[in-house]
Amino acid sequence: MTKIAVAGTGYVGLVAAVCFAHVGHTVTCVDIDEEKIKLMQQGKSPIYEDGLEELMQENLKKDRLFFTTDYKKAYSEADVIFIGVGTPEMPDGSANLNYIAKVARQIAESIVKDCLVVVKSTVPVGTNDKVEQFIKDFLINDVKVEVASNPEFLAQGSAVHDTLHAARIVIGTNSKWAEEKLLEIYKPFNLPIVSVSRRSAEMIKYASNDFLALKISYMNDIANLCELVGADIEEVALGMSYDERIGKRHLNAGVGFGGSCFPKDTKALFYLAKQHGYELKTVKAAIEVNSDQKTILFKKAKNRLITFEGLKVAVLGLTFKAGTDDLREAPALENIPLLLENGADVYVYDPVGLENFKKIYKEGRQKNGSLTFCADYKEALKSANVCFVFTEWQEIKNIKPGEYKALMRTPLVYDGRNLYPVKAMKEAGIEYYSVGRMPAERLL
Ligand code: UDX
Repeated sequence: MTKIAVAGTGYVGLVAAVCFAHVGHTVTCVDIDEEKIKLMQQGKSPIYEDGLEELMQENLKKDRLFFTTDYKKAYSEADVIFIGVGTPEMPDGSANLNYIAKVARQIAESIVKDCLVVVKSTVPVGTNDKVEQFIKDFLINDVKVEVASNPEFLAQGSAVHDTLHAARIVIGTNSKWAEEKLLEIYKPFNLPIVSVSRRSAEMIKYASNDFLALKISYMNDIANLCELVGADIEEVALGMSYDERIGKRHLNAGVGFGGSCFPKDTKALFYLAKQHGYELKTVKAAIEVNSDQKTILFKKAKNRLITFEGLKVAVLGLTFKAGTDDLREAPALENIPLLLENGADVYVYDPVGLENFKKIYKEGRQKNGSLTFCADYKEALKSANVCFVFTEWQEIKNIKPGEYKALMRTPLVYDGRNLYPVKAMKEAGIEYYSVGRMPAERLL
C-alpha cells in the first residue's frame, strides 16, 4: 500500500483521498483552510455528497485518513502526491493555474525523498510538463521527482460511487517508473485502466467533458426545433438512445448545463485551441447554445406575461443539478437576477442548496423586485402567479399537478427539467411549458 498526500479538499481531492483510504492506502489531505481541516478531522464533510461522510468516518477510525494544514510534513512523508486544487475560469475563459503553481512550489520545497506528483485537477494540455519543470526549478533536495496526469471523471451527486465504480481510470505518464506507481495505487480498485502519454491524458479529460457538453447542447438545439415543428424531444431521445453509438445517457434537454466542469472546460478548450491559432467550431456551438438555453423559459414567460412587476414568482430548485449543494453556473442563478430586474417578487426553494444560496443573496428588496427564502415548496407556490422549475430534485418531481393547481393563484408553470407528464398537467388545469415537448392536445 502507498503513502499518499492529496493537495486540495474540494470535490476532486477529498473524494479521491477518501476512496484511496477506503481501498487500503494511507492518505493525508492537505488544505490551507484551518476551519475546514478541523471539520474534516471530526469526520464532517464540507461538501454534500452521498456516502462521503460515512466513508470519511470509517477511514479516520482505521487511521488511514488524516487531515492537516502542515503541508511540509505531509509532502515530505508521501511517496505519491496528488494535486486536486481548483483551476477556476479566468475572465478570458482560460484556466487559472495559480493554485497549482503554489502547490507545486510547496511540494518542491518540502520533499526529501523520490516522489511522484500526480495532477488530478483539470488542466490545459501541456500543464504537466510545466508543473514538472516548475517543481524541478524549486527543488531543495537532490531527489527524483516526476509528474503524471490522472484526470478525474466523477460527477457531483454520485462522486463516491463514480470513483469506486469508474468506467475507466486514465493515467498519463512519461516513464515506466511513474506508470508502475500509479498502476499499484489503482490495483485494488479493480477497474479498467487506460495508460497513455501525459498530454493525451490531459486531452482525454477535456475531450470527454466537452463531448458530453456538446451532446447536451445538441439535444437542446434539437428540442427547440422540435417545438417549432411539432415533434417531442423525449420521444426523439428515446428513439435515438437505442443506437449504442449514441448511448442512453446525457440526452436530456432542459435549461442547459451548469456546474463546475462543463461550462469551464468548454471555454478552456476553446481558449487553448485559439491560443494555437485554431477555432474549435463544435465546442463554440456548444457554448453558444448553452448560453441561450439557460434563459429560454424566462424569455417565453416574459412574452406570455408582458411584465413581472408585482407578480409572485416561485423558483423551485437552485442547484445546478440534483444531488449536490453546488450552485456554480446553475441556471437558477442566471434567471433569478433577470426576474428581480424585471420587478418580480421571487420566492425560492431548494431542498439542499438554500444555505449556499444565502451566501450569495440576501432576503428583501432586490433591484426592482424582492427575494424571499422558503422553507418548503408549498410556501413558494402559495398564491404564486408563475413557477419556474430549475433542478430535478426528486422532491420537486414528486409534486402532484393538483398541488400546483391548488396552491398557485394562477397555475402557470415553466419546467426547465421536463419533470411532469404534459398530459397530467393539462388535465389538472395547469398552463404548462417545458422544453422541446409536444403540447398535450397533440398527444395521443
Ligand atoms: C460532469 C461530468 O459528467 C463528469 O464526468 C466530469 O468529471 C465533471 O463534469 P457534473 O458537472 O457533476 O459532471 O454533472 P453532470 O451530471 O454531467 O451534469 C452537468 C450539467 O449538465 C448539469 O447542469 C446537468 O443538469 C446538465 N445535464 C446533464 C443536462 O442538461 N442534460 C443531461 O442529459 C445531463
